[in-house]
Amino acid sequence: MAKIVITGGGAPLDGSVRISGAKNAVLPILASTLLSDGPVIIGNVPHLNDVTTTMELLGQMGVQLVVDERMKIHVDPRSIHSFFAPYDLVKTMRASVLVLGPLLARYGEAVVSLPGGCAIGSRPVNLHIKGLAALGADIQVEGGYIRARAKRLKGAHIVLDIQTVTGTENIMMAAVLAKGTTTIENAAQEPEVVDLANCLNAMGADIEGAGSRTIVIHGVDRLAGCEYDVLPDRIETGTFLVAAAITRGRVKVKNTRPDILESVLLKLEEAGAEITCGDDWIECDMHGRRPRAVDITTAPYPAFPTDMQAQFSALNTIAEGVATITETVFENRFMHVHELRRLGADIRLEGNTAVTRGVDHLNAAPVMATDLRASASLVLAGLVAEGETVVDRIYHIDRGYDCIEEKLAQLGARIRRLPGTDQDELQAAQA
Ligand code: EPU
Repeated sequence: MAKIVITGGGAPLDGSVRISGAKNAVLPILASTLLSDGPVIIGNVPHLNDVTTTMELLGQMGVQLVVDERMKIHVDPRSIHSFFAPYDLVKTMRASVLVLGPLLARYGEAVVSLPGGCAIGSRPVNLHIKGLAALGADIQVEGGYIRARAKRLKGAHIVLDIQTVTGTENIMMAAVLAKGTTTIENAAQEPEVVDLANCLNAMGADIEGAGSRTIVIHGVDRLAGCEYDVLPDRIETGTFLVAAAITRGRVKVKNTRPDILESVLLKLEEAGAEITCGDDWIECDMHGRRPRAVDITTAPYPAFPTDMQAQFSALNTIAEGVATITETVFENRFMHVHELRRLGADIRLEGNTAVTRGVDHLNAAPVMATDLRASASLVLAGLVAEGETVVDRIYHIDRGYDCIEEKLAQLGARIRRLPGTDQDELQAAQA
């Protein structure tokens, strides 16, 4: 299986890095192309395994996808002949469930595998199903599949029990072609939801309020093609800023958006970093100082993102002082803690809170990635651990980070990839 090897304890990271398009925006945007009557061109697409999986899923349905020389994806949904998302693909990427709303709204039927559990929590999709049923869909769950049918969906007033990102996106996509107006209350406010709404509006949808707790969608009869650039990845941005902080270095991230990262920037300042921002860049400078440990509680946007929790867990391991990190979004998102302890971190888990006492230094060890953000935290810890840290099961990181080792190497990190065998890769894909 491919591994990443990091020789830690070197010079602080220094330099600049370009941020890619957001994974959690491009996936729903790719799914939304199913709603269109014409070709959609998507730009600022990150090079990620989850993007490849989504392209494979749409391709299996008969959608035509071409990547041009500018790395823009041209999606033409007009050749679609199947409304089916098989277990084999959905089990490798939960976001596949995002095709449910668009297929139902545009073609009146969808058969989509239930995603099942995942390393960070049980992650049910009951609220997606409840919301689509409120729009008038007839939905059965049997044999591990969601089977949905509808003539034309009808606008409805939906109050979500919990703020769910992909749930809000699925319902919003279905509602754009419904008859009448849909209101989603307690909607997720994540910037990726706003990006999806902007893309849908560019196709001719009529969505107001995305980014607030109440989204109002006036149904339209049809959507047309459009050209749209995906917003920058705020989690990749935050990960590189933590890389600067943990190595006591100075990193400028470019092609990003400081306004969608406020909670993370405030925590970096609390840790002692000097943060400077321009319209599309952020610089994090630790001036060679040891970071201070920071208390964090994760919650839906605009609060501190669960997707940055593991990276700050790594930062706290070598920071000055004791701090607590409380995870409120997912019930099992502390798998990285056990691996960080293998590097010498002093972390105690108390329910959904990790209490970390910063140590002077970490020592390299072989560690295993368990999910996407956990793998990022292990790479960050590896940057400062004395010796050679080998991070196994690195396929998790390729799902959501575009060329992470090249980008870190460009900043001065001593990092390289050991390729796995084909057999390993096959096993990884099935894991
Ligand atoms: N939930 C339910 N029922 C539902 C849907 C969600 O109980 O029908 C619960 C979940 O179990 C969780 C909470 O609601 O406890 C919030 O989950 P949410 O639905 O918002 O998560 P998601 O949409 O499945 C997206 C991102 C995740 C990110 C979360 C939270 C995508 C493709 N994925 O997941 O990204 O952690 O929102 O912000 O957008 C990642 O990138 O590493 C990642 C896991």
